[in-house]
Amino acid sequence: MAEPHPTGPGGPGRVHVHDANNTKDVPWYIPIIPALMSPPLIDLLENYAGMPPSEQEAHLYRIRDLAWEVFPMPSVGLFWWLVLGLSTHPHYRQLIELMKSPPTDPSHPRKFLDLGACLGQDSRKLIHDGIPSSSVYASDIFPGYESVGHALFNDAPTTHGHFIAADIFDSSRSSPLVRSRGTWDAISIFMFLHMFSREDLLLAIRQVLLLLSAEPGSMIIGAQTSSTEDHEEVLSTPFLKEGVVRKVFRPSKETFKQMWQEAALDMGIGVKVWAEYRPRWELGETEVEQNYSESHAMVAKDEEQRGKQRRMFFTVERL
Ligand SMILES: C[S@@+](CC[C@H](N)C(=O)[O-])C[C@H]1O[C@@H](n2cnc3c(N)ncnc32)[C@H](O)[C@@H]1O
Repeated sequence: MAEPHPTGPGGPGRVHVHDANNTKDVPWYIPIIPALMSPPLIDLLENYAGMPPSEQEAHLYRIRDLAWEVFPMPSVGLFWWLVLGLSTHPHYRQLIELMKSPPTDPSHPRKFLDLGACLGQDSRKLIHDGIPSSSVYASDIFPGYESVGHALFNDAPTTHGHFIAADIFDSSRSSPLVRSRGTWDAISIFMFLHMFSREDLLLAIRQVLLLLSAEPGSMIIGAQTSSTEDHEEVLSTPFLKEGVVRKVFRPSKETFKQMWQEAALDMGIGVKVWAEYRPRWELGETEVEQNYSESHAMVAKDEEQRGKQRRMFFTVERL
């Protein structure tokens, strides 16, 4: 099996910190929090982070600016990190059951990884839903998101040391993700894989499969933007600096399933892959997505492509 190539200074679809346009004068640095403050989020902030509802809004504006300084992701500007996407996945109960089931080896408690976690709202929701914080980890390419996540959820003492700063494409032995290969019972990849070109998506799939435990029933769970017809979109200014262009791939659910199946087959891993288009998951997301779509160079330019865009939920289960 061929090893994915190590991180280079700019694969065709990768976003690099030096390419970012840091200005707040972009349409996705929106002036007000959209209707994303769902009852489960208010509950999480109140009963997990200990923040009374009356203080939550001001707190979230402060947190957004801290996260923006780390890296000005459109999702940060749009308060996307308030969407508890994982908990709305149709297989969320299965994930909880897996994480609560006794480990085969009692000396190795179950482990969950939120990959491309940004501020880690999904992993905090999982802890709030009863999974011990000692079993829950988050990872992102930008180390600075760790302390902002702690500030958001006021949980540095309980989740300290559970953030893995790493690039998913780094296959060198010094990568903490590489050192953790084969140890994860469950891996969440929400709104992550659609950030890459077709070539990088294939590499990322292999990297994620290498992370998964060999135990039958271990699972990868996620969601992302997809399309009923495969196509590539161009990412450019104002998200990226003038002159910097990257491509992102929007696979159909059929193509996406096939990519996982072929990679797993090539790696000698048995998997069952499920993928479905689903309605949007949170009240207010339509408003946010519209804002995002109309202003963001990442989004399909023509109406025909836009009409084909879908939110896809997926699960990859080890046989
Ligand atoms: C759109 S955000 C999604 C965040 C979160 N999962 C959610 O659903 O709100 C994608 C995240 O992937 C991270 N990321 C991008 N490229 C990465 C890479 N090569 N390795 C690891 N993380 C990466 C970004 O920093 C960002 O936090």
